[in-house]
Amino acid sequence: MARRKVIVTRRWPEEVEKELKSLYDVKLNEDDHPMSVAELQDALRSADAVLPTVSDKITADVLDANPLCTKILGNFGVGFNHIDLDAAMARGIIVTNTPDVLTDCTADIAMILLLMVARRAGEGERHLRSKSWTGWRPTHMLATKVSGKTLGLVGMGRIAKAVAKRAHFGFDMRILFYDPYPPPKEVVANLGAEPCDTFDEVLRRADFVSVHCPATKETRHLINAARLASMKPTAFLINTSRGDVVDEKALVSALQDGTIAGAGLDVYETEPKVSEELLAMENVVLLPHLGSASRETRVAMGMRALDNIKAFFAGKTPRDKVV
Ligand code: DGY
Repeated sequence: MARRKVIVTRRWPEEVEKELKSLYDVKLNEDDHPMSVAELQDALRSADAVLPTVSDKITADVLDANPLCTKILGNFGVGFNHIDLDAAMARGIIVTNTPDVLTDCTADIAMILLLMVARRAGEGERHLRSKSWTGWRPTHMLATKVSGKTLGLVGMGRIAKAVAKRAHFGFDMRILFYDPYPPPKEVVANLGAEPCDTFDEVLRRADFVSVHCPATKETRHLINAARLASMKPTAFLINTSRGDVVDEKALVSALQDGTIAGAGLDVYETEPKVSEELLAMENVVLLPHLGSASRETRVAMGMRALDNIKAFFAGKTPRDKVV
């Protein structure tokens, strides 16, 4: 039987590409450029499986490709807000994602951002590298202590729980959260976490607010000007989820006028573009969407995407079927 044709939209870790090639007729995006609408449509017209990732906008327009060959989109990543699920379903395409394997690394990045912004680590490094450091002194670069402070989590899914564990057991932080679908009581109790009745209560009480909800129509600009205004002026916002959950313009204003103290961001509204204002601010730490970017995790994500398409081609329901 002819081998199935698989198109991978971006380069994957070598070991996963090797495994893919051993099983399928694979077309790689050799120079790793972001694929255009026309290229994505070509892929849908010619491959049995297309393996996209967060940088590919799989819109209804893209999914309108004809004649359609693709039967499965094996997404590399847990988030799937870049794929129009309704349009995929309408065209009879299965969509899978890669949960679980990136939980720890994404939680680590949330903690890195929290610690860096609170302790002015990015600013300190820039200060040193620019050769401006004149030596230790008692009042130099005073920052905010993290241990013992209150962390408010927006959402209490896998990644938020991993952040809570690190913050509570590692930094003695008090954990508050709001999630319309909270985890079981014993899970919450084991994390020393306190559920709040409203999302606004989390914002009002927390010293650090960390966003861990998926990007949906409902969560777009969930963190808006009014919500930023309800945070403490000494508080910090951390976002490792998706850029659209935060109104970036409102965040810029809140940072400029001192409504909040700072922000640690790994994701942006119009990635890879980052607003010039944010780039110029000292009280923000900015990372280029590195949440899952450890070698181990990226290999695990690739293998998980591969398992999903393998299951599909074997006539089984893939473990991580989204629709
Ligand atoms: C995801 O998996 O959705 C991340 O944003 C990329 O790792």
